[in-house]
Amino acid sequence: MKTIIEPFRIKAVEPIRLPTAEHREAALRRAGFNLFRIEAKHVLIDLLTDSGTGAMSAQQWAAIMRADESYAGSTSFLRLRETVEEIMGFRQMLPTHQGRASERILFDLIGGAGKIVPNNAHFDTTRANIEHSGARAIDLAIPEAADPTSRHPFKGNLDLDRLESLLAAESARIPVVMCTVTSNTSGGQPVSLENLRATRQLCRRYGVPLFLDACRFAENAWFIREREAGQQERSARAIVREMFDLADGATISAKKDGIVNIGGLLLLRDAELFRRASDLTILTEGYVTYGGLAGRDLEAMALGFHEVLDEDYLRYRIRSTTYVGEKLLEAGIQIVEPPGGHAIYIDACRFCRRLSREQLPGQALVVALYRHAGIRTCEVGTVMFGARRPPPLDLVRLAVPRRVYTQSHMDYVVEALIELFGERDRIRGLRIVEAPETLPHFSASFEEL
Ligand code: F0G
Repeated sequence: MKTIIEPFRIKAVEPIRLPTAEHREAALRRAGFNLFRIEAKHVLIDLLTDSGTGAMSAQQWAAIMRADESYAGSTSFLRLRETVEEIMGFRQMLPTHQGRASERILFDLIGGAGKIVPNNAHFDTTRANIEHSGARAIDLAIPEAADPTSRHPFKGNLDLDRLESLLAAESARIPVVMCTVTSNTSGGQPVSLENLRATRQLCRRYGVPLFLDACRFAENAWFIREREAGQQERSARAIVREMFDLADGATISAKKDGIVNIGGLLLLRDAELFRRASDLTILTEGYVTYGGLAGRDLEAMALGFHEVLDEDYLRYRIRSTTYVGEKLLEAGIQIVEPPGGHAIYIDACRFCRRLSREQLPGQALVVALYRHAGIRTCEVGTVMFGARRPPPLDLVRLAVPRRVYTQSHMDYVVEALIELFGERDRIRGLRIVEAPETLPHFSASFEEL
């Protein structure tokens, strides 16, 4: 059969409805044209993020009832630790309430003034936590990552030449090299095993540890299986294990490939660092066997890590995102090619061709798509990163929650975008009225030009 189906059926449903045009307009104005500030009940299809928005399985919900809520040494913690050891090969792990808590603990310990932390492309919270510690965050993606039309199969790869020059000049100031799998800010693009292995070698040569930002580890592994020479016969599990075996540690937001609504992990091989991270976890997250989560969250996470490696799931997951990307490309809408794993990224400068960068084409498209069809998306561009260091592109991300929307939902999204594309010269630019210094996109307000 050619058709790749959703490999699940639906047991519980949540109604969604399209608010009227007047309601959408009023909601936009109340929110200062910032979709983070709109009440979710006014959204029809929510592609703001794939984080914490996945649908849990019947098994996960059952496990939630079975969970052990003991403060210390809970059975649910032990089950999660066993899972993490089996899948990722790390014995020392700390649960945290989400990815950025793991980042905060890590960079409190190894960041600080004068330090430099390279990554293929830092996610905004990672960058913010590094800078909050006083250190400098540097992106070292391969040049193809900045070209939306490049079909390089691994646009998440680290630029090894630039990494080596940096390590040769500054290794004493580099506490860790990070690699984000898949690279969210460059379009949900994967990192190859070959690139990870070479990064590992460079790190070893210069005595610097390698950490993964492993939120979407399973999607990355599936791309490796599909695209990298010699990997087609391996299981996603085996590839995941090799990815983690190359690393000295990892920060993970389980809200993505853990398929849970909340939770994160910090994985560490170094015993002394683990001891210090445990002390910090107790200080602000909670005791080391729950780390700011309930036992039921740990239980759901343990199962989520198994379920995400189901190959029927991964095949469907990557195919269904690709499907949206292909339909948009066919209609002449430039996206970051090739389509990403968890999201499709539209090149908003090309879409809103009449708007200059100062008129915030990404945010303008986000607003227009909500206004047109009740669809919520997210700008990844000048608003997210700030005009002080404008990114190479203004993108609009359509992030696809896991196991939530069906093909007809996504057909609606495609149709809405194609309609809007026909009227794109009428999309109005925006101006920032108010924005905080850090992570401005969450709370900024705008006005239309
Ligand atoms: N690293 C990456 C690559 C991420 O995509 C995220 C979150 C984090 C770290 C932080 O994890 O949210 O659990 O604290 N990304 C979400 C997104 C918010 O929409 O892409 P968190």
